[in-house]
Amino acid sequence: MHAALVTSFDRPPQYTEVPDPEPGPDEVLVHVLAAGLHPRVRSGAAGTHYTSDGALPLVPGFDGVGRTEDGRRVFFAGLHAPRGSMAELVAVPAGRLVDLPPGLDDVTIAAAMNPAMSAWLALRHRADLQPGESVLVLGATGNAGRLAVQLARHLGARRIVGAGRDATSLEAVRRLGADAIVPLMADDVAERLAREAADVDVVVDYVWGAPTEQALAAVTGARSDPAHLLRWVHVGATAGPTITLPAATLRKTNVQVSGSGQGSVSSDGMVAAITELATLLPQVRPAVDVVTVPLREVAAAWEARTASGTRVVLVP
Ligand SMILES: NC(=O)c1ccc[n+]([C@@H]2O[C@H](COP(=O)([O-])OP(=O)(O)OC[C@H]3O[C@@H](n4cnc5c(N)ncnc54)[C@H](OP(=O)(O)O)[C@@H]3O)[C@@H](O)[C@H]2O)c1
Repeated sequence: MHAALVTSFDRPPQYTEVPDPEPGPDEVLVHVLAAGLHPRVRSGAAGTHYTSDGALPLVPGFDGVGRTEDGRRVFFAGLHAPRGSMAELVAVPAGRLVDLPPGLDDVTIAAAMNPAMSAWLALRHRADLQPGESVLVLGATGNAGRLAVQLARHLGARRIVGAGRDATSLEAVRRLGADAIVPLMADDVAERLAREAADVDVVVDYVWGAPTEQALAAVTGARSDPAHLLRWVHVGATAGPTITLPAATLRKTNVQVSGSGQGSVSSDGMVAAITELATLLPQVRPAVDVVTVPLREVAAAWEARTASGTRVVLVP
């Protein structure tokens, strides 16, 4: 079969021929229809994801839409290197296959499922967002942040604040349903976060690093009732891998900081979320700007610059 293959962490994957996968006893052969090129795929292919073991060569790709030999259209996720979804065929554990109802095309699902899953797990399962509560999405301009805004609205959030870097994308976030937007690059970002998000119940945080330090100080410093529970869920680290957390922040405010990702969420939990989203996404109509690229052009797609909020999907 043809696949993308990473042979060096310094070079983009190359389109090449590799042996067909041989499914194990509990695995199913899936013909890949579409696979998203999202940050988890990039960090896995670069050997920098926290689950990476450094072994090469590997086929990149964490998830995708495919068809089984008996005709089921499925979504699958949680692939481990060296086997990935950027190939014509992949062997997937039977328990990781989620049947897809009609309603959305293969490419849209491949683009939207990973960011939607990140937001769904954070909002629904880590923060247990209740109708009427309010949410701050930190890093709202990316695909995951936009889905977080849409899904928070779907779950009945009363007020949604979207904070992000790219000004044009932030306007798109407002059109998706954010009640207020805060540009993270503004000189007065701390004041604006304090004004717009002082009393949020939940923060879905895709940025971490310096913007999170600033936002945590602004929000916890401005709460009208410091004892009111604030659930801060870290999901991504686009702005940096670490923060400095002042001890007093944890004493002076009732803030609970947790994370959501591979490990803190079990494989079964991830499959359960995808199963819920398979039905939900056609209703939510995910706002993803997709660029579809043939798999044979994977090397060029890897290097290409894409606009804020755009998702590349590779099609074998
Ligand atoms: N834990 C999980 O389950 C899970 C699942 C999916 C994704 N994630 C993580 O979530 C994050 C976002 O994923 P995604 O799918 O939305 O990626 P994406 O579509 O590529 O978007 C990434 C966004 O990050 C923003 N960004 C980059 N550097 C930034 C900085 N220094 N400050 C503020 N914003 C910055 C960019 O904002 P602008 O467009 O405004 O420039 C861009 O829109 C990634 O870290 C990803 O690994 C985690």
